[in-house]
Amino acid sequence: MAPSPRQASPELQQVMDECREKINKTLEKMLTKGDWAEAPLWDAMRYGVLNGGKRLRPFLVMQGAKIFGVDEYRARRVGVAVELLHSYSLIHDDLPAMDDADTRRGKPSVHKAYDEATAILAGDALLTLAFEVLSAPETHEDPRVRIELVSELASAAGGHGMVGGQMLDLLGEQEEFDIGTISRLQRLKTGKLIAFCCEAGAILGKANPAHRQALRNYAHDLGMAFQMTDDLLDITGNPAEMGKDAGKDEDAGKATFVSAMGVEAAQSRAQMLCQQAKSHLKIFDYGRADMLHHVADYVLQRRV
Ligand code: IPE
Ligand code: IPE
Ligand code: MG
Ligand code: MG
Ligand code: MG
Repeated sequence: MAPSPRQASPELQQVMDECREKINKTLEKMLTKGDWAEAPLWDAMRYGVLNGGKRLRPFLVMQGAKIFGVDEYRARRVGVAVELLHSYSLIHDDLPAMDDADTRRGKPSVHKAYDEATAILAGDALLTLAFEVLSAPETHEDPRVRIELVSELASAAGGHGMVGGQMLDLLGEQEEFDIGTISRLQRLKTGKLIAFCCEAGAILGKANPAHRQALRNYAHDLGMAFQMTDDLLDITGNPAEMGKDAGKDEDAGKATFVSAMGVEAAQSRAQMLCQQAKSHLKIFDYGRADMLHHVADYVLQRRV
């Protein structure tokens, strides 16, 4: 059972729950079980994706898309692509060579439930499947839109995006990073994928540059606050609630805002970032970006 987005307002909670159900159904269909010789790979992929998760990234895609009146089915496909890619990143993040984490989303991580080689391959296959989904004509009838989605997601996830951030995260275990480098680490590791999610609706809806820039600015602050909360939860969170072990960052000597500035300063910085994130939404007509507004508060208060 996926965790409910705790600490969300009742209205936001309902919309997030509905989104999660839709995304889970689509993922379930996409990751079909088969009687193929390579079935263990698909079992591990299903396990890594369908094992819970808040589905926050698809929620951001779908809410961003709603602002521009994008067809929900298309937005859902983009949300699903991001979640496939995000799940790959978590499977690889938990590997012994990286964070060596035994638990994810309340269950044994993929390399524990299967084995390391299968976990690596499941991650690889999910990453490539994400791009297969984006590039399919079902995602958008205009090939230029599909190319833009593919190219933006590739740059958010690659060497100057999430993977680059993961490299910095590992280097930070050995080196003392200044605050600027920690900022870069967080922006690449988590921020870029969240930024893609917030901008995807603008790409699908061919939004004007000012609206797209507003979402980019919103995402920049939201992504930073999201990773700061993740780092804070590693210290203050309850492992049973979070579905993953706590205290791992300190044990590994990770460079985070919390290690650099302490819990209280990181909390107040995250708060400031969420306020700032919301201020970028003023450009949108009344009510259009309400859920994105609420989700910024949720990012700060979440316990999962
Ligand atoms: C965890 O992401 C990894 C980070 C980038 C901090 P989430 O907190 O969104 O994890 P799930 O998808 O809900 O499990
Ligand atoms: C992971 O960050 C970010 C990814 C790109 C997967 P963390 O290592 O802090 O995420 P958790 O705490 O294991 O979920
Ligand atoms: Mg990590
Ligand atoms: Mg980790
Ligand atoms: Mg963490």
